[in-house]
Amino acid sequence: MQKAWWKEGTVYQIYPRSFLDSNADGNGDLKGIIQKLDYLQFLGVNIIWLCPVYKSPYYDNGYDISDYYKIMDGFGTMDDWEELLNEVHQRGMKLIMDLVVNHTSDEHPWFVASRSSLDNPYRNYYIWRKGQDNGREPNNWASEFGGSAWEYDPITGEYYLHLFSDRQPDLNWENKALRHDVYDMMTWWLKKGIDGFRMDVINLISKAEGLPDASGAKEGPYQWGRDYYRNGPRLHYFLREMHAKVLSKFDIMTVGETPGVNCEKAELLVGEDRHELSMVFLFELLELDYGDGDKWKIVPWKLIDFKRIISDWQDFLEGIGWNSLFLNNHDQPRAVSRFGDDHKFRVQSAKMLATMLHTLQGTPYIYQGEEIGMTNVKFPDISYYRDIDTLNFYKEAIAAGIKMEQVMDIIHARSRDNARTPMQWNNSEHAGFTAGKPWINLNPNYPEVNVEENLANPDSVFHYYRQLIKLRKEKAVLIYGDYRLLCPNDEHLYVYLRVPKLRRVPGCGKKKLAEIQKAEKDIFGNNSEEKILVILNFSAEVKCLNLSEDIRYQESQLLISNYSSTNFALEIEVRPFEASVYSLS
Ligand code: NOJ
Repeated sequence: MQKAWWKEGTVYQIYPRSFLDSNADGNGDLKGIIQKLDYLQFLGVNIIWLCPVYKSPYYDNGYDISDYYKIMDGFGTMDDWEELLNEVHQRGMKLIMDLVVNHTSDEHPWFVASRSSLDNPYRNYYIWRKGQDNGREPNNWASEFGGSAWEYDPITGEYYLHLFSDRQPDLNWENKALRHDVYDMMTWWLKKGIDGFRMDVINLISKAEGLPDASGAKEGPYQWGRDYYRNGPRLHYFLREMHAKVLSKFDIMTVGETPGVNCEKAELLVGEDRHELSMVFLFELLELDYGDGDKWKIVPWKLIDFKRIISDWQDFLEGIGWNSLFLNNHDQPRAVSRFGDDHKFRVQSAKMLATMLHTLQGTPYIYQGEEIGMTNVKFPDISYYRDIDTLNFYKEAIAAGIKMEQVMDIIHARSRDNARTPMQWNNSEHAGFTAGKPWINLNPNYPEVNVEENLANPDSVFHYYRQLIKLRKEKAVLIYGDYRLLCPNDEHLYVYLRVPKLRRVPGCGKKKLAEIQKAEKDIFGNNSEEKILVILNFSAEVKCLNLSEDIRYQESQLLISNYSSTNFALEIEVRPFEASVYSLS
């Protein structure tokens, strides 16, 4: 286990279009972000992840890039971006950029050239195939955004692969020239001084040879080809090459967006001796309520499975690699609506979830608005929605004969627009997000849920996040300590310990042991006795907890709780969505 700035930091994710609009055009922009850096510094976060602001036709909100070296006009200029980087660094914070290199926009000059003729030098930058003799697409893969993953292009009479929309053709990573262009582009941004990358669907860049047909029971003519493009055969080769040629030359962090990865696969991506990535997002957890891997099929989730998945990752990566801790982002519903209660216990449950994110081992990620307990939105009909994935699902579901009411219920729970409604800064018109007409409607709860109210109220979700971030900075055991799950079979309570130890590999030799002991001294210093106990109630009812005798409660000290009075005893009643963190010495 090595210490690192990105293990000790807290990340704040900004979705620029919905953060703050400085020029009244209805869209957030870079100058808007600069205006709010003091707010973020006050919150205590020290790493900002900026979702794409590159030049893009914006069919998939910037995940369709047409020029990697330019800033999209709507967000501002390169000078604005330089100013942002400078202002972030002046505050002692770091900036990481989104890296989207599984695909580009179809308006990227590489694709424009690639599609122009069969022998264009850029032809092989993308994945082109002939159709089958029976007139069908080259294979039966479904696009992640609905329909086929192939689009016929009349210019050359072949199909190109697009795992997302047809405006997002997949790059051909088998082509060395393409890889080197990507590495040059990454180096260009790193030389400007950025502190790392969040890598969009990075485990999709290697496709199985032959692009075989997928099997499965998905309705309709197309099947998930995920077995053939997630964690493909050359993924580790590509990442190690990228590491050697680019990443290893800078003191940066990287986080991979890697759907379909369990803890064993994660180790191969983030193992400290593997030279690939710093960490990957734990999507396995967010797929708990997907039926057959399909996010539009909602199935109930159970806390026991939730704890098992987190514990597997905590245990498996301990001392080997690093975790990322997050419950929502720009693609996911709001965490408080999904895992908490966004009505009666909104404040308590938002705080409870935050407690978990800041007391497990890993780097916490806060998605904009989470720090004030923003919730899902229920727009009355499809005309309010903007997300391409939601609009495609709606069309397909209605065409398949599913009742409108049911379709809207699913959209209310799952649409990516739940996370994309604008930041709620205050209770003035459009929540202070814009003086113009917002690109997407606000969540109507902004008069009650907003930053101004949170700042003024010492019991708010915001102030609780601040305290948690501060606490984590003060306690090395919360960052680096080993994790021990208690009461694994409790269906409502999530209870664990953090201990000031680094795990010993069974049977490790004397030399290794001496190294571990030295690292322990380095990390925990004289505080090598303090354990932390975390008790979280994931239900809206009072639950009874019996702790074992070896938890020395007599010497406990409450560090933080979302209820004002707390009694600690061996047998305790844990109130609805209660979260309490104790120091046991
Ligand atoms: C994952 C991104 O987070 C999402 O917003 C995007 O639509 C897809 N990748 C495609 O880039």
